[in-house]
Amino acid sequence: MQSSTATIQNTFAEDVIRGLSATPKFFSSKYFYDDEGSRLFQEIMKLPEYYLTKAEYEIFSTQTQKIYSIFVPDNAPFDLIELGSGDGTKTSLLVNFFLKHKAEFTYVPIDISGEALELLTEKFAAQFPNLSIQTEQGDYFRTLETFKTESNKRKIILFLGSNIGNFSQTQAQNFFNELRALMNADDVLFIGFDLQKNPRTILSAYDDAQGVTAAFNLNLLTRINREFGADFDPENFSHYASYHPIEGAARSFLISKKEQTVFIDALNKKFEFAMWEPIFMEISQKYNLSMIDNLAQASGFRVEKNLFDDKKFYTNSIWKPV
Ligand SMILES: C[S@@+](CC[C@H](N)C(=O)[O-])C[C@H]1O[C@@H](n2cnc3c(N)ncnc32)[C@H](O)[C@@H]1O
Repeated sequence: MQSSTATIQNTFAEDVIRGLSATPKFFSSKYFYDDEGSRLFQEIMKLPEYYLTKAEYEIFSTQTQKIYSIFVPDNAPFDLIELGSGDGTKTSLLVNFFLKHKAEFTYVPIDISGEALELLTEKFAAQFPNLSIQTEQGDYFRTLETFKTESNKRKIILFLGSNIGNFSQTQAQNFFNELRALMNADDVLFIGFDLQKNPRTILSAYDDAQGVTAAFNLNLLTRINREFGADFDPENFSHYASYHPIEGAARSFLISKKEQTVFIDALNKKFEFAMWEPIFMEISQKYNLSMIDNLAQASGFRVEKNLFDDKKFYTNSIWKPV
């Protein structure tokens, strides 16, 4: 059987070919997080324009007791499963509080990025030597399938950092339907949604003045060069971000600055780019409360509670299966 790293690598290669053969061309943003991508994302989270992390951090640090009472209404042991955990900075606030209150749980961070999981493991081992932790590397769609069989404890599923925004609304609906099928009546889903707000505030978060988001997007080309022997010249592409207030969608693109051909050695394929041709890199869907309600209802959940930061920029929505 193939290792999960080999499977991820094969799927990555297939996705690169699929994306560059399509019109318009696209990449999947789940491949942003190699070593350098994870490091750049940590820088993005510290940028003054990137309000998302600050808002979610505020909710976690000021409403920890409330979250704990909803997650752990009794003393029964549970699994704290995090989809796309990244470096787990915000989750560490919850873990710290749960351990102090002697909650009995296993933390299961799932991420496609081995580098992100390494960062997390190092940090959590130092901070919480007594924590029971079981990391899983893989695409959460695939890893989800193993959930139901592995443990019969209550599942608290975290899906933070507005990761859901990286799905179109149809993909989000399908995702929650799949998740619902794997959950039991007592389980809880805890999702971070970025809310619609001043379009300029949103646009700046994806187009920061220091150019870190641009470097983060361009890094995917460098990753493809390294892992598949491609000859992308990142200098020949520029980052462009947009926000569409009617759709509530922020989108990022890399734009080819000239007519060019890129050869990918390991895939033995070449791809032509016209001058100013875009590659669609990422969607970051913004929600309002009725969209959240509709999404929950349509996928077999009810919204138990929405927690907000002070500015109402962001909500952590607590869903229970119906
Ligand atoms: C925007 S970061 C957010 C990290 C963290 N949840 C937070 O709030 O800081 C997205 C994380 O999800 C992971 N990820 C994205 N798509 C994924 C997928 N399909 N399966 C597993 N992990 C994925 C990425 O590797 C990255 O670590």
